[in-house]
Order: sequence, then C-alpha cells, then structure tokens
Amino acid sequence: MKIAVYPGSFDPVTNGHIDILERTSPIFDKIIVAVIHNVYKQALFSLEEREDLIREATKHLENIEVESFSGLLVDYLRDKQACMIIRGLRSITDFEYESQMSMMNKKLLPEVNTIFVMADSNYICVSSSNIKEAALLGGDVSSMVPQAVCVGLKNKLAGLKASN
Ligand code: PNS
Repeated sequence: MKIAVYPGSFDPVTNGHIDILERTSPIFDKIIVAVIHNVYKQALFSLEEREDLIREATKHLENIEVESFSGLLVDYLRDKQACMIIRGLRSITDFEYESQMSMMNKKLLPEVNTIFVMADSNYICVSSSNIKEAALLGGDVSSMVPQAVCVGLKNKLAGLKASN
C-alpha cells in the first residue's frame, strides 16, 4: 500500500492545499493529512477545528485521512509506514525552505522522499497567513478557501469583535 503524508499547519486549509490533494490523491492508495500540533505556535483555529475543516473540504476524495501529529515528522512517517511526504511549492522562497527541510528529513530517514507539487497559478499568492490577515481585516477570501473555512473565518471575526 502506497501511503503519503501531507503535513502542515493548515491554519486554515486553503483551496491551494485542496488542489494539491486533488492532484496527488490518484497517485497514492492513501494520503494522511497530518496537522502539526505545535505548542509553541499560536494558531487562529484549534487543532480540532483545523482537522474538521480539512475533513469537510476533502469529503469528495475517498483516500484522504486527517490526523494530527507532534514531534518529528519522520517518526510519524515511520509509524504510519508512509513512503512519501507531499509538499506544495509556490515560489523560489518556498523552494529554498522546502529543499532544506526535505534534505533534513532524508538525512533523518533515508528511505523517505518528498514529492513537490507546483501550486496552481490561481493559488500562487494564497497562503494561510495572508488569508487570515485579509479575512480578519474584512476582505473577501471566498474564492481562495473552502466554504466551511469561509464560515469559520467569519465566526472568528465575529468572536474577536464581540470580545473587544
Ligand atoms: O504548513 P507549514 O507550517 O509550512 O508546515 C511545516 C511542517 C509541519 C511540515 C514542519 O514544520 C515539520 O515537519 N515539523 C515537524 C518537526 C520536524 O520534523 N522537523 C524536522 C524537519 S526540518
């Protein structure tokens, strides 16, 4: 069974992430979307919210599972008997960071490879960080995120306004 892991923060998942899953889903028997549980990084969406949003947005893909992980990514891959890491690339800046991360992962676990998928041209400018910034300042991000994320962002904005 060919199992790949698509790791990330996914705070929140964007249409760019979903596009990468739609294009890689036929290549593998199973893809595990692994949401990092990073205690040192403040996220807008809780771990459970991020997982639920990804589940909702990938309902149409049969071979996708969503989980969270903490610690070393390669340990998680070993545990899941996965052979491949999936990462998206939008720019040269992404490439520099991603190539180093993939080489480090390969040093830590030589049998693991990273497959890089170029972002669709529609999503080159889309990142979770700029989605959050635009949405929280009132911008319309509905063409860049799944419907459930759009609703989630509106709820977060309403919650922030109520608490101020
Ligand atoms: O969506 P992100 O924030 O770019 O994802 C980064 C992620 C989660 C893939 C990366 O930080 C990661 O793999 N963290 C786990 C810790 C680890 O294994 N580090 C060693 C590899 S450099």
